[in-house]
Amino acid sequence: MKILVVYSSKTGNTKKIADAIFEILPEPKEIYSVQDAPPPEGYDFIAVGFWVNKGTADNAAQKYMKTIKGKKVGLFATLGAYPNSMHAKESMANGKELLTGNEILAEFICQGKVDPDLLARMPKDGPHAMTPVRIQRLDEAKKHPNETDCLYAQNAFREILPELV
Ligand SMILES: Cc1cc2nc3c(=O)[nH]c(=O)nc-3n(C[C@H](O)[C@H](O)[C@H](O)COP(=O)(O)O)c2cc1C
Repeated sequence: MKILVVYSSKTGNTKKIADAIFEILPEPKEIYSVQDAPPPEGYDFIAVGFWVNKGTADNAAQKYMKTIKGKKVGLFATLGAYPNSMHAKESMANGKELLTGNEILAEFICQGKVDPDLLARMPKDGPHAMTPVRIQRLDEAKKHPNETDCLYAQNAFREILPELV
C-alpha cells in the first residue's frame, strides 16, 4: 500500500504533527507540504493535515483535500482553541466534509501556538479584545504541539496500521 502524507502548515505546528505521524507509518511512504504534493491518485492511503482558519481547513489544504476521491484517508489538524472544544469538533467536522467520498480511518487534532503576528494585530479593546479566558487559552496554545501531542497523534495512526497492509 503506497502511503502519502500531505500537510499544510504556515508556522510549523501542523508540519510537526505530520512528521510524527510519518515516522510510524510503514514503507512505501512519502511526505510533502501541500505546496509540493503530488496528486493523490497514485497512492492508496493519504494522511492529510490542515491548520484551522476560521473554523475550517485553511485554503491550501481545502484545495488539495477536494482532489482526494475514493481513498482511505487520515485527517489531522492543529488549532488555537482547545482540542476538546466545540470549535475543534466543528473544525474537524468541516474538514471531514471536504473528504466526502473517502473512507476516514483516523483523525487527530491538537492545539498549536498562534502566529504572534496575528496576535499583535488583535484589537486591544472593543468586542474582539482579549479577555482573561482568551489569554489563558493562547498561553496554553504556546506550549503546543508538544511531545505528548506527537505521541497521541502517532497512537491515533498506529491503531489503523493493520488496515495499511
Ligand atoms: C489567519 C489565522 C486564522 C486562524 N483561525 C483560527 C480559528 O478559526 N480557530 C482556531 O482555533 N485557531 C485559529 N488559528 C490558529 C491556528 O490554527 C493555529 O495556530 C495552528 O496551529 C497553526 O498551524 P501551523 O503552524 O501549521 O500554520 C488561526 C491562525 C491564523 C494565522
